[in-house]
Amino acid sequence: MLPLSRPDLLLSDAFLAGRPHAGAERFAVTNPATGALLAEVTDCTPEDAAQAIEAATQAQRDWARQTGKARAAILRRWHDLVIAHADDLATILTAEMGKPLAEAKGEILYGAGYIEFYAEEAKRLYGETLPGHQSDKRLIVLRQPVGVVGAITPWNFPNAMIARKAAPALAAGCAIVVKPAAETPLSSLALALLAQEAGLPDGLLSVLPSTWAASIGQEFCDNPRMRKISFTGSTNVGRILMRQGAAQIKKLSLELGGNAPFIVFDDADLDAAVEGCLLSKFRNAGQTCVCTNRIYVQDAVHDAFVAKLAAAVAALPVGDGFAPGTAIGPLISPAAVEKVRDHVSDATAKGATLVTGGAAHALGGTYFQPTVLSGVTAEMAVAREETFGPLAPVFRFQTVDEVLAAANDTDFGLASYVYTGSLSRSWQVMEGLEYGMVGVNTGLISTELAPFGGIKQSGTGREGGRQGIEDYLELKYCCLSV
Ligand code: SIN
Repeated sequence: MLPLSRPDLLLSDAFLAGRPHAGAERFAVTNPATGALLAEVTDCTPEDAAQAIEAATQAQRDWARQTGKARAAILRRWHDLVIAHADDLATILTAEMGKPLAEAKGEILYGAGYIEFYAEEAKRLYGETLPGHQSDKRLIVLRQPVGVVGAITPWNFPNAMIARKAAPALAAGCAIVVKPAAETPLSSLALALLAQEAGLPDGLLSVLPSTWAASIGQEFCDNPRMRKISFTGSTNVGRILMRQGAAQIKKLSLELGGNAPFIVFDDADLDAAVEGCLLSKFRNAGQTCVCTNRIYVQDAVHDAFVAKLAAAVAALPVGDGFAPGTAIGPLISPAAVEKVRDHVSDATAKGATLVTGGAAHALGGTYFQPTVLSGVTAEMAVAREETFGPLAPVFRFQTVDEVLAAANDTDFGLASYVYTGSLSRSWQVMEGLEYGMVGVNTGLISTELAPFGGIKQSGTGREGGRQGIEDYLELKYCCLSV
């Protein structure tokens, strides 16, 4: 039993149009740290998805007619409830996902930030009046909700990735049907219950746990009432959704894979760079889309940086997310461990040096030692593929042009990081990096206040900031002859 002050937040039935839905089949949700069974949840079917979309379509009409201020009040209450229950939500999150409890609490506050931000934005969906092209014409641009939205969300941020889709969608006047990751449905069900307690009308937010990800995705794409899909996950699945959505020209927001470079110049504050690198590489045990994947260090400071980084990485406490002091929890699955192991052995076989870590952790299960490799080159798999685990590969470089070419030599373009003491170099590199986001002298860029998203094969659309609500709005141009 999880130590919850509100045990009823641990739901196992799907949340379909405001009501618990037991369904015919169930699947097990387990704690990745211990393998313990947490719940047997409803395994929703494409028919359930169709039902949720139908209910959302009905509910959305009234919701869109409400004032932004009325929608804002409900979202604000939802935010307040999330904050009030942050400890319970963090406990559920750590139990199903494995990240350290303090990090889980950070995620809950991060997610709540999106709800608060978009509660405020609901009141600011301004249209425009334009000068007419003829003297009797008055031109107006309205911003109207897209309609019913489908969200497909990942296991690495079981709370925040839902909050940052649902909050702008609801603020804009849309309804949303969420298919959370099968590994982590419990956080999303708890969020939905709190939204209902905040006064969100039934049907506007359904949560459908399912192991039938592909069929639910197909229903989202094929159902003409579903006007938009917002997906966070792999580039491969993003590509499938694009293909499937093509028949109906489905609107898509895609937050996909990354291959983030982390560049350290010889004029950087090395201690700050190591600290930033730990944050950006080892947050969530390396399991975020914005995690550093390639570390480029300029020749003159390379050895000093590697020594400092290796010492800091070797000292990271690995353990159960509920154990005090844990910095690195278990990985989500045995397959995730295999990927890290493959990247380590590919790199060392091709000449990289293992500086620290490199193997399964003595704790067993899906724990892996935080690892640093040096002497990494462009021929190794880690240069091209996202590891999604606690592996820090270090490359050596000489010049700005060389490192920009190497950093941009990837199909991805989500996050990037640079450490330098020079303002002009900051600008040069910031402008030269082909990425949707750049952190300069910081390893943590995520905030609800800014537009999060990528270019190239890292996706399309933005989440967060005033830009994040645009993905849930259509423009309607009206021409009045007066
Ligand atoms: C992600 O990994 O997809 C999200 C990371 C973040 O919001 O910081």
